[in-house]
Amino acid sequence: MSTATKGLEGVVAAETEMSFIDGEKGVLEYVGIEIDALARHSTFEETVYLLWNRRLPTRAELDAFTKDLRAHYDLPAPILTLIKTFPKDAQPMHVLRTAVSALALFDNDDPNSVEPDAYRAKGLAIMARAPAIIAAFDRVRSGKDVIAPDKSLSFASNFLYMLNNEKPTKTMERAFDTCMILHADHGLNASTFTGRVIASTLSDIYSVMSGAIGALRGPLHGGANEGVMHTLNEIGSLDRVDAYMKDALANKKKIMGFGHRVYKAYDPRATYLKTLAEQLAKDTGNEQFYKMSKKIEDIMHEAVAAKGIYPNVDFYSATTYHCLGLKLDLFTPMFALSRISGWAGHCIEQLSANRLIRPSADYVGPHGVAYVPIEKR
Ligand code: CMC
Repeated sequence: MSTATKGLEGVVAAETEMSFIDGEKGVLEYVGIEIDALARHSTFEETVYLLWNRRLPTRAELDAFTKDLRAHYDLPAPILTLIKTFPKDAQPMHVLRTAVSALALFDNDDPNSVEPDAYRAKGLAIMARAPAIIAAFDRVRSGKDVIAPDKSLSFASNFLYMLNNEKPTKTMERAFDTCMILHADHGLNASTFTGRVIASTLSDIYSVMSGAIGALRGPLHGGANEGVMHTLNEIGSLDRVDAYMKDALANKKKIMGFGHRVYKAYDPRATYLKTLAEQLAKDTGNEQFYKMSKKIEDIMHEAVAAKGIYPNVDFYSATTYHCLGLKLDLFTPMFALSRISGWAGHCIEQLSANRLIRPSADYVGPHGVAYVPIEKR
């Protein structure tokens, strides 16, 4: 009989000082600070500093970190040239994965270095450039000029500026920045695990990021936020939610944006995003998306809350991103822009006490099978 733990559920495979999750109580902390406090009071830049240094920065430290991040906003020119060659209908997650991988080719400072300081510097540069990759591709595919980054702007504001050629309002910047904070890190989720496995082989950070982006893209992980928006679009109006959900539940269809391997209570990120989505929906005339979402949540609550299935981070982020004017296929890349910080932090942790991650598999096939020459098969 196989002793394998399917999906590695409950298997502890690493130690981390970055995020703590209590799935039963619905708690998430970064370095001991509740996610709600960070969402309300911090910035993405400060949150990344916290995750990477396991303490909040002083003003001078935050200024230096921010300056360093902004210094890396520009894309190497060949990456921009490469992006212009991509098919206009390419999926942005494929674009991000490919362009991040290609950054290694233009890293003249030993792209393969596994020194924690080098990983950190390269992680910072990848994080700084990822928004430019997505914004440039979106503008190129829409036949618009690429907008150069503005180094006077925050990570959140600069991305929205490069995307829209217009500086965002304070409200938009704050909402997007909050989304970045909420998505930065989350224990040993599938993409982070992927990244740590790659780092544990002493491979380069570009391989780590490419692998992690690939894992995040899947609909059971980061791709779920796009899945939620597809569901909302498919339903189309509030009066059709009941019928859609009745059919979905009867056919045991998985509803995107619900359920979690660790949370058996309300995901605290979803709590925050729900409030944000409601406000933004009101402000931007998109109330139908919030109302549809709320109705789906109510129906799911009746049907499956007893099984510990609640909205996860992806459910209300769909309405939030829609209200921020983002195209549907940019939703999962938004998750990646933020999570790059978590992947980098985990890999720095991995390398500071590295041991190759190499689990086992129970062999469940036959033994003693005779080799049959091909002409006799
Ligand atoms: N809708 C309906 N039923 C569900 C859902 C859902 N979204 N999620 C889980 N269930 C049911 C599932 O059918 C199963 O029921 P039964 O025991 O009767 O067969 C039970 O709950 C356990 O589900 P599971 O798929 O074995 O649980 P898991 O821990 O392997 O999967 C999950 C976790 C997140 C993959 C799953 O809940 C899911 O597929 N959710 C939809 C996709 C989604 O929203 N993913 C984003 C996850 S959070 C952000 C992130 O990490 O990216």
